[in-house]
This record gives sequence, structure tokens and C-alpha cells, in this order.
Amino acid sequence: MAFLVGETGGQERLDDLGGEGHTGHPAAETEHVDVVVFDALVSGVGVRSLRGAHAADLVGGDGGTGARAAYDDPSIDPPITHGPADGRRVVGVVDGIIRMGAEVGDRDAVFGKRLGERFLQSETGMIGAYSYPHTPSFPKAAASVVTSPGGPYNLAMDQIVVTGGTRLDGVVSVLGAKNAVLKQMVAMLLAPGTHRLTNVPGILDVELMGRVLNHIGAATVFDGHALTVEVPDELRPEAPLELVRQMRASIIVLGPLLARTRTARVAFPGGDDLGARPIDMHLAGLEALGAEIELEHGTVVARAPNGLTGAEIDLDFPSVGATENILLAAVLARGTTVLNNPAREPEIQDLAAQLNSMGASIGGAGTSQMVVNGVGQLHPVDHGVVPDRLEAGTYAAAAAITRGRVRVEKCDPAHLRMELKKLAEAGCEVERGDDWFEVRGPDRPRPVDFATLPFPGFATDMQPQMVALLAIASGTSVVTENLYEARFRYLGELMRMGADVTTEWQHAVIRGTDRLSGCPVLAPDIRAGAALVLAGLRADGYTIVSDVQHIDRGYEGFVDRLAALGAVIERRGA
Ligand code: UD1
Repeated sequence: MAFLVGETGGQERLDDLGGEGHTGHPAAETEHVDVVVFDALVSGVGVRSLRGAHAADLVGGDGGTGARAAYDDPSIDPPITHGPADGRRVVGVVDGIIRMGAEVGDRDAVFGKRLGERFLQSETGMIGAYSYPHTPSFPKAAASVVTSPGGPYNLAMDQIVVTGGTRLDGVVSVLGAKNAVLKQMVAMLLAPGTHRLTNVPGILDVELMGRVLNHIGAATVFDGHALTVEVPDELRPEAPLELVRQMRASIIVLGPLLARTRTARVAFPGGDDLGARPIDMHLAGLEALGAEIELEHGTVVARAPNGLTGAEIDLDFPSVGATENILLAAVLARGTTVLNNPAREPEIQDLAAQLNSMGASIGGAGTSQMVVNGVGQLHPVDHGVVPDRLEAGTYAAAAAITRGRVRVEKCDPAHLRMELKKLAEAGCEVERGDDWFEVRGPDRPRPVDFATLPFPGFATDMQPQMVALLAIASGTSVVTENLYEARFRYLGELMRMGADVTTEWQHAVIRGTDRLSGCPVLAPDIRAGAALVLAGLRADGYTIVSDVQHIDRGYEGFVDRLAALGAVIERRGA
């Protein structure tokens, strides 16, 4: 990890941090910097986005004077609930600073006027800047370093600014599904040779999974929406923490690496924005196939010295990831694997289709029992990725919330039956063909109750977008989230825009209001980020969505596509 330490005693701090880096002075704009540390604070871009860094290690020496001053500043609205930068709470402090920056960024914050405000200047993309005593230009230069091309956090500084009130009108086509392509990239590891995927979305997660493949030894070449992957005979069977933290779905490499090399070392992914997200079913499934699994210092170490053997496996819950991990191991195992209660998502079906064209023998994809007859080897193929139902559904919700009319093309409406049904219940007019649908939004939606469930139930990844719509409904809706404990986290942001919501465990009661009002909000995850943008499309005034790198993880050209449909929206970079 590359640090830029911009404070007195920077070399000592850098030694403490144990990374490569620069001290005291910003690096050249083109240089790669992971985390910028200055005046006892860690720039939020590094900590919040990566989460791989130990916050305690990254806290500066004096406990964060600036943060403390800001904390005590009564003029900052809403009151900052984060404490000074001590220990692991620095993440919270940084969170607070980003929020404060968003809150008061447009205020006439004169540089150096008050200690708290030194963190709050209006310079776009500045987070935690401080007037470095010996280099007055430091904050500006630091910002440009943080946003330097090639750095993983450059996107963190961007914001999406939406001005509400326009009705969307037009046609949008969707790309391949994020949740399919990531696993299909991994599936390629099962066969040496040259593989090709088409309809690959240009999203951050695909790029990150590309890095995982590169680490394992495969070469990746992106050409528009096509991806060619050259898989070597010899693989490096590991995925380290720095990659797994950025790309949680990397855990899926466990199955294919075990199948190919009889060993794998993959960092335990830990929790994320949606909650704890255990992987017990992944590991139990692989153990049933004969793997020996240990957790060693945060790394899952799996070995199958005698190879893998088919087994009958009952999943407690139809987990998408566990189904995929088991499938990707079982295709090359000896004998037959019967997987009961597997996930039935369209992305699983598309993964099975890719594997079958590679020579695997998988039956029952999309049903509640899959049967895999292991084969000796697989061969590379070209495969077109199934359309992204969640991207399609997001544009459907965008039409609905803006009273607009949007035709979504190159999608499969059969993959969105439940979500389109609920939009219709809310008063949308929905028409559909084989590979398109059109949604016309009502003036004001009706309230709708729904519960998220595994496919073909209502997708948890469409819950925030639907809730944004229900926030302006003509009555009260009850939404139950059954998949993720922390999936309602974004509701606080939606409430800042005027939504009237209360939550009780996994239930949210949404009392529709007739207006939302634009304000600065933080995107806590991909879908919630998209939902906040949608809320902004309906809100009075303008909404500034920060932390938009989450949205980049799952949507190609989100801002441009919405703008092409008539939204008044722009991306603001540093
Ligand atoms: C995938 C999708 C994600 C989607 C989710 C559910 C990708 C990259 N991500 O995530 O966008 O929201 O499916 O549709 O495809 N669980 C366990 N133990 C396990 C595995 C899962 O308890 O071993 C729990 C999870 O915590 C969660 C539930 O099962 O509560 C569903 O998780 P799962 O279906 O595995 O989701 P992911 O594959 O992680």
C-alpha cells in the first residue's frame, strides 16, 4: 500500500505504517497513492473504501485536532456524532468529515477561518485537508494526488449532482449482469487456454475481478464489452486480503482453485456494508466434497490432497455464493454431486450454461436440485453474459419515480417478474416483450408491501430502489428485508431527504410523503447509492450523492444513461 504522509515527523509515521510512500510533500500527480495521511487524519477515501487498512494503524499522532474541533463545532448541522480520531473510530471520524464536507462544502468556508472549517472547504473532492504549514499549496496538491489516475480511490472523490423534477423519457439498454460476469470470469480458471466473454459491463467490480485473475496468473484483455482471458496451465492458487477486501466475490475462486490445484489460500472476506455475510455454507460444501479447510491468521487455507469427490449436499439456505463455489468445485470432482436447495438466480443458470458449454455436466440449474456429474477436464469457450436484471430494474424504478416513461432493452423481463409486478401494484403501467419492457410511472405511486427473498422472490438488490419510490407513495408500505442485516442502513440518508420511515428489526414502515427535498447524501452501497440518485430525481432542488464509487461498482455510465433519458444530472470530480 502506498501512503502519502503529509505532516511533521512524516518519516516516522510512514515507518509506523509500514508501507511505501512519500512524506511531507505530495507525490507527482501520476503517482499511485493509496492512502493520504495528513495532520493526524487519514483521508477517508483510503480507509472507507479499502477497509483493508487497520484504522488504528492509520491514526495520526495527535488524536485528530481538526476532527475534534469540527466535532465541537455547534454550527455544523446536523450535529456530528463522531468522536475524535482515536483508535478505530477514525473511520467514523472520516465518515463525519465527508459528511461535513458535503454539508457545508458550498458554504463560504474561508480557508483557515476556524479550525473545524479547515476540513470543510468547498474545493471539490477535498477531504480532511489542512493547511500544511510549510507548503501552503499542499491541500490542493494532495487532492490532485488522491484523484490521480490509476489510484484505486480516485473515484471516491467524485459526487453525483442531481436536480430533481424532470420526467425520464426514452430508451436504455442494459449490459451483462455484474453478478454473473464476476463468477464467469472465475469459471474460466477451470480450463487452461483462451476464453472470451461478451456483453461484459464496464464496471469497477469487473476491473477488480480482473486483478484477482491476474494475481492467480491469468492475463486479461478488455476490448469494449468483450473480455479475453488467457488461463495458464499453472495457477497461483491464492487471493490475498488486499484483493478480497476490494472484491468480496473473490471468495468464489476457492472452489475452482481447489479443483484445479488441490489447494487454495483465500483471505477470509469478513463483513461489508450489508452486514456480517458469513461463508460457512461455502466452506461446508467444499468440505463435503473432500476439502480440508483451516482458518489460518485470517486466511482460508483449503487442501484436497486426494482431489475432490462428488457428494450430496443440502444447503440450509439457497445462497448464491455457496451454490457457485460448490458448482465450480464439483464440475471437476470425481463422481456425482447432488446439490439440494441451491440458489435459482438467473446468474446461476447462466454460469451453469457457460460451464456446460465448457464441457461440464450440470443439470437442474434454476430448480431446487442441481446434479453435477464430474468430468476430467474442461475447455475454453466464448460466452455472452446474461443481461443484468438489477440494472434493468433500476431504470424501471427510475421511470416510476419520475412519472416518466422508459423502455428498457436487451434485458429479460422474465428475470424481473416479481419486481415488475410490484411496480404495477404501485400504479405503473408495464408492457413487455421478449427482450424489453416499458414502464410508465404514475403521478403518485400507491403503497405496496413486499419482502425480499431468493429468486424468484423480490430481489434484495432492488429493495432500496423500490423503497425510494414508496417514499413518495400515497400511503404506508411495509417492506421486509430477509437477506441482509444492514441493508436498511441507507434509510437514514433517505430520511434526510424527507422520507418518513421507521424500522423494526428487518421491517421498514414507509409512510409516503408528497415531496422529497434534495440534500447531500452518502451512497453506502451499490444499490442504495442508485436508490438515492433516483430519490434525487424526484426531490425538490438538488441532491449531491457522495461515495459514488459504490455506484461505479455495479452500473456502467449510470449518470450518462440517466442524462440521455432526460435527467438533469452530472458527475462532479475533483
Ligand atoms: C449475491 C450477490 C448479491 C445479492 C445476493 C443475494 C454477487 C456478487 N452478489 O451475494 O448482489 O444481494 O447474492 O441475492 O453475486 N449466507 C450465510 N452463509 C453462507 C453464505 C451466505 O449465512 O455461507 C447468508 C448471507 O449472509 C445472506 C444470505 O445467506 O444473508 C444470502 O447470501 P448469498 O445468497 O450467498 O449472497 P452472495 O452470494 O454473497
